[in-house]
Amino acid sequence: MTRLTIDGVEVEVAPGTTVLQAARAAGRDIPTLCFDERLAPFGACRVCLVGVQDAPGPIASCTTACREGMVVDTQAPAARRVAGAVVELVLSELAAPPAEHTELAAVARQFGVGEPRWPGAVHPEREDLRHPYLAFQHGLCISCGRCVRACDEIQGAFALTATGRGFTANVAAGIDAGFRESACVSCGACADTCPTDAIAEVSLLALAESATI
Ligand code: FES
Repeated sequence: MTRLTIDGVEVEVAPGTTVLQAARAAGRDIPTLCFDERLAPFGACRVCLVGVQDAPGPIASCTTACREGMVVDTQAPAARRVAGAVVELVLSELAAPPAEHTELAAVARQFGVGEPRWPGAVHPEREDLRHPYLAFQHGLCISCGRCVRACDEIQGAFALTATGRGFTANVAAGIDAGFRESACVSCGACADTCPTDAIAEVSLLALAESATI
């Protein structure tokens, strides 16, 4: 077993346990964005940063394994400041704010991030509504890779691909010819894991829209 301290509380975890897993098991809440416990850790967004005693800077808790004697501070000011800025940057690139019920909106609330301070270039708005069950709103994609990984790791369909870079970074179905022409089997794993509703089930989107009318 590995012994460490999280927010002043000593915990003991199995070897290989990540800092995020240990913290959550100890009842500490660390916000995450590219993480989904059903998927292999990805370590792309840096929203899960925490402070570790004697470390040169904040570390990503979702991809860092616990070490014997580690002293973790989930509320370390530097970690919170950087992670909050990351969330603000992500929001500033969206064509429209994420709906209140989405994971991204919840994470923004956790960090107290409201209207981004840096309005400017945003992801182009483009919709793919050809699939009977899944709607793809490209302007809400934050390139967290969760949909691509869910398609690969949960369903084994490999129907989605990360494409482009910077403001054109996005996700494509098949060879970018749309869901219907791809290997999509309509399992909905991509929509289920998407933290912004960039991919959403058509029926749930309609429900959300009717609730806001
Ligand atoms: Fe850890 Fe994204 S949740 S890097």
